[in-house]
Amino acid sequence: MSSVTPVNDEVRRNFYGRFKGHGITKAQKELLKTELKNISLTSVSVEDNPKRNQLDIKSYFGSKPVWLEVGFGSGEHLIYQAKCHPEVSFIGCEPYINGVVSFLGKVKRQKIKNIFVYAGDVRDLFDVLPSNSLAKVFLLYPDPWPKRRHKRRRFVNPEYLIPLLRVMNECAELRVATDIEDYFKHTKREVLKLDFKLIKQNGDKFDLPWSDWFPTRYEKKAKLQNRKSYYATFEKN
Ligand SMILES: C[S@@+](CC[C@H](N)C(=O)[O-])C[C@H]1O[C@@H](n2cnc3c(N)ncnc32)[C@H](O)[C@@H]1O
Repeated sequence: MSSVTPVNDEVRRNFYGRFKGHGITKAQKELLKTELKNISLTSVSVEDNPKRNQLDIKSYFGSKPVWLEVGFGSGEHLIYQAKCHPEVSFIGCEPYINGVVSFLGKVKRQKIKNIFVYAGDVRDLFDVLPSNSLAKVFLLYPDPWPKRRHKRRRFVNPEYLIPLLRVMNECAELRVATDIEDYFKHTKREVLKLDFKLIKQNGDKFDLPWSDWFPTRYEKKAKLQNRKSYYATFEKN
């Protein structure tokens, strides 16, 4: 599925992921209406903020460090991190509404208070976050787009990485996990063209997750299908 978002008169963005899958139940619709409103970052989408004014992040997060998870799926890793780090404020970004709804159920049941959400394309968020606002970013099992002609659609491309670099603090960390060897190699190549350095893990095998890791749904799928995962940490120079 592909859709186009006009960002301004000159820029239009293609989005190739999914916003919606199978039907959403009445209870889930209610959850979206009530819970999502409570924890959503406002003035992020082009419709809500056509002039792309910068977010006043202090009004949301005070002086806490802010960590972002891009494409959190159903949010198991994000919630785990939020529970381990009450001293941090989290932003979770996920356009797929079925994932968001399953995440909201967990947030409500577990009474999580330190996560804000943008239920849309992360590029919208990059437009409006002030420079140097993020201390850590997680990109876990991004859509692989394995066909050669689709590689431009990957997150790990200048269209995403350059705006990401702007909103990261100096020395901020970018963690990437993937079960696709080619995506891992592509990531090292593309990220290191920019102002990042690679932090060695387990020599340079990159086969061990971080000590505060929580397996995501896609990681579990990869394990069931006997695919190994790669875990890379980059630091902004
Ligand atoms: C393969 S899934 C992985 C989900 C989760 N991280 C996991 O490991 O289980 C990739 C996720 O990235 C999300 N995604 C794709 N394009 C995105 C974008 N432009 N902004 C934010 N999230 C995006 C998708 O909706 C999807 O949930």
